[in-house]
Amino acid sequence: MEVTIKTQEEIEKMRVAGKLAADVLEMITPYVKAGVTTLELDNIMLDYIENTQHAISACLNYHGYPKATCISVNEVVCHGIPSVKHLHNGDIVNIDVTVIKDGYHGDTNMMYVVGDTSPRNKSLINCARNSLYEAIRAMGPGRNLTLVGETIEKVVANTGFSIVRDYCGHGIGKEFHEDPMVLHYKNSLNLILKPGMTFTIEPMINAGTYKCKVNHKDGWTVTTADKQPSAQFEHTILITETGCEVLTLRSDENFDRIIYNPQA
Ligand code: MF3
Ligand code: CO
Ligand code: CO
Repeated sequence: MEVTIKTQEEIEKMRVAGKLAADVLEMITPYVKAGVTTLELDNIMLDYIENTQHAISACLNYHGYPKATCISVNEVVCHGIPSVKHLHNGDIVNIDVTVIKDGYHGDTNMMYVVGDTSPRNKSLINCARNSLYEAIRAMGPGRNLTLVGETIEKVVANTGFSIVRDYCGHGIGKEFHEDPMVLHYKNSLNLILKPGMTFTIEPMINAGTYKCKVNHKDGWTVTTADKQPSAQFEHTILITETGCEVLTLRSDENFDRIIYNPQA
C-alpha cells in the first residue's frame, strides 16, 4: 500500500472526523469516576457517536473487535475490552476512540485518572503526553518520519520508563490503518513527509519492561509482561505546507493546533 496524499476535500472531512473523535473524549470525562464500569462508559460513548454525532464507531466489529471503544486500565497497554469491571480510586485509564464520518476516520486517545493516583503514575502519564507532544512538534514537510521515534526516545531516556515496540501509529484516512507504520522507537523506516499526509502518533509508555502479552482468551487485551502500569496518548495529525495540524485536539489541552515547521 502507498502513503496517500489527501485532497483539500478529504482534509476537510478528516478535520470533521478528528473533531468528533476528540469530542467523544471530552464528553465522557465527567463519567470517568470510581464505581462506573467500563461497559457503561462504552455504552454512553456509542450512544453519543451514533445518535448525537450521527457517526460510526470504527472499532465495533473491526476484525471482530466486540465493543465501540478501547478502555485500558492500569497494566493494560491497549485494546482493553469494555466490561462489567468497575473503576477504582487510583486507577489510570486510557480511552481510545475512532469514529468514521462521511467515509473518513478520526482516531485519538487520552489518559484519565480516577480520583487521585500515585506520583509514579502521574509521572508516567506526563511522560507519555510529553512524548506525543514533542513528536508532533517535530513534524513538518520535508522532515523524516523517523523523527517520531528519535524524539520519543529522547523524552523517555533517563526516566526508567520504556517504549512499547509491538504496536505503532499508522496512516489514516478512508481506511482505519493505512501506510505508513509510525514507530515510536528509534528506527530506520525513512519517509520524507509531504503536505496532505495524515497519520497517528500514539506512544505507549510502560513503567517497567516494554514487553507485552496478548490475552489469548479474548485475543485482544494487551497487558505489560510485568503487570506494571502503562500510559498512552494519541492524536491524528496532518502534514501541511508549513508544518502540521493536530486534527484531534481537545479544549482541555495546553497545545497548539497549528505547528509551524517550514521546510528548510
Ligand atoms: N484505536 C486503535 C488505534 O489507535 C485501534 C483499535 S482497534 C480495535 O489504532 F479493534 F481494538 F478497536
Ligand atoms: Co491509532
Ligand atoms: Co486509537
